[in-house]
Amino acid sequence: MPTPTGGIQPTRRIEIGGNWKLNPDSPEKAKELALDVFDGTFKLFGKYEMPENLGITLFVPSIFLMTVADALESEFHSAGVKHEFVHGSDHIALGAQNMYFESKGAFTGEMSPDMIVNAMKGYRGQPSVLIGHSERRQYFGETDEGVNRKVHAALRASIRPFVCIGETIEERSSGKMEEILARQLSVGLQDVSAKTFFEQRGVIAYEPVWAIGTGETATPEMAQETHAFIRQEPLTRILGAEIADQTSIQYGGSMKPGNAGALLAMSDIDGGLIGGAALNAESFVGIIGGVRTAAMRPM
Ligand code: PGA
Repeated sequence: MPTPTGGIQPTRRIEIGGNWKLNPDSPEKAKELALDVFDGTFKLFGKYEMPENLGITLFVPSIFLMTVADALESEFHSAGVKHEFVHGSDHIALGAQNMYFESKGAFTGEMSPDMIVNAMKGYRGQPSVLIGHSERRQYFGETDEGVNRKVHAALRASIRPFVCIGETIEERSSGKMEEILARQLSVGLQDVSAKTFFEQRGVIAYEPVWAIGTGETATPEMAQETHAFIRQEPLTRILGAEIADQTSIQYGGSMKPGNAGALLAMSDIDGGLIGGAALNAESFVGIIGGVRTAAMRPM
């Protein structure tokens, strides 16, 4: 029987992430944005119709995680219909934008995996974390080795890792893109158990650095080609063909409602990690609407 959403096949999940970065500037605004996304998504799909294999994750500033978690949870409880809407699962999940790999100690200013888990204790679903975003690599000295320690720490704490990789424009134009992406993944996922990564529903986010926040997007064909490379080469080598095939690879870099449908229609693009356009509920929900196009892609 066809599903109301157009029949997304229950294979790879379509993962749409909102990376709020250093926004907004108050807990009230964070709560309002999260609730607006919730309401917009609810309106988009209607009662019971949110596809089983669509995941939406809001990566909010960690200082607001608890406020947003509590606000969303009480929203779910306040309306029975909305409670049904999410099937008691984590279809609108929450995540942090970074974390440290140590669990305690003298590490001023850092946040441990358990702190993230406990901050979201009041909220259904599994906490997520972005690891190795290019802005952290660029401005805060994040290395592939650090990414690897964080991935291990996240998996130990049952936090879903969204592992970010991507090449700069110089790396792409000098023909080094594949080498860079392969290295980021080989080191970033070193000694990670494929089974655990799969069970914790780990995600790869491919974000060409030159497309982040610039308004420049990889064309759907360019992005598809790179995603296919990531899946068939390094990811298959590291996780094995079966798990590589089941792992969602998000595209990130100036994704917006106007280009999301075409990107998401590509067979190896399993969602998006959205920065700028995630700060406005209407445009973020507009991108989620692009999943309808993705539903029609050949799997
Ligand atoms: P952008 O950011 O959508 O503003 O390009 C994407 C990201 O950095 O995750």
